[in-house]
Amino acid sequence: MNFPCTKLPINISMEYFKEIDLPSWSLVQKFCRSKWDGAFTTATVFSGVDLAYIGKLVEYDILTVLGIEVKIKTAIMFINEPNFVQDLHVDGFDPERINASNTALNLPILNCDNGPMYWYDGDFVLTKSPFKTIKYLKINWQDEPTLAATKIINKPTFVKINIPHHIENRSNSPRLMLSIRFTKDILLENIPSIS
Ligand SMILES: [Fe+2]
Repeated sequence: MNFPCTKLPINISMEYFKEIDLPSWSLVQKFCRSKWDGAFTTATVFSGVDLAYIGKLVEYDILTVLGIEVKIKTAIMFINEPNFVQDLHVDGFDPERINASNTALNLPILNCDNGPMYWYDGDFVLTKSPFKTIKYLKINWQDEPTLAATKIINKPTFVKINIPHHIENRSNSPRLMLSIRFTKDILLENIPSIS
């Protein structure tokens, strides 16, 4: 018997995020909170001994929990004002995204229970962002984008950053999220689901 062949939407099997267990999460939270003076800058970029401290904790956990050996590349703490809505973007400096990470490990630091992340599908062309300080690429939509997935990131979660996404802080308090990139990049399909 022949069944009609229905073409499924492209995102039907695509994963946009994956939660993981990260034993050092509370230690990293404590450290990051101690580094925030309450000012609303866009982000804090960790470097030197601070980056090394976060790296040591997180690299150990990734190896122990996921069995994957990685080195920390960057750790940026995003500081979102109350009711902040981030521009839709793809991460990266260069529209070709050569050597750019496709995933980030997001670690909630403060008030992340009311800040959904959204991912969008559609045809687009990437161009450089006019903002030099932030690693965002501008999305030039060729047609109307459609919402593909949404998730409240309130646990350590690997998220896709190579497709259009943004966050909203739907609360009256500041939201702090640490976003970590690794070499090598960890693909979502290589992360076992937690039960
Ligand atoms: Fe992003």
